[in-house]
Amino acid sequence: MSALHAPRKGPRQPRRHRLGAVADFPLGEFRLHEVEGREVAVIRTARGFFAIRNGCPHMGAPLCFGKVGGTMLPSDPDELVYGLEDEVVRCPWHAWEFHLATGRAVGGITSKRVIAYPVETGEDGVFLVVGGTRVREA
Ligand code: FES
Repeated sequence: MSALHAPRKGPRQPRRHRLGAVADFPLGEFRLHEVEGREVAVIRTARGFFAIRNGCPHMGAPLCFGKVGGTMLPSDPDELVYGLEDEVVRCPWHAWEFHLATGRAVGGITSKRVIAYPVETGEDGVFLVVGGTRVREA
């Protein structure tokens, strides 16, 4: 069968992996999980659960050793504005910062991103969602 006549693939279905109970995640501490052969760092902050690939896109540092907090925001020359508390991880090697929810670099220091995964929680636990058709951000 030629590529022209190959059956068209439909949208990929997301796969949910149970990581444990909510109580298994102390506030502000990364927990490492192996999911589909990838090391994923999961953290619960005051802003909710976040999951990222445990490798910095710069030189591969383990982001689970990074500090999670906020960052300085763009502001006027005579202002210092701090924000995004509990939504940013700072790489332990060279201090690049990444948004935990999107994996994007703070301040555009690089176009490389950390892979970020959706996390779902409920009475039955904490789940990492892998795969599926991605919805592009506007
Ligand atoms: S390895 Fe992460 S910023 Fe360099």
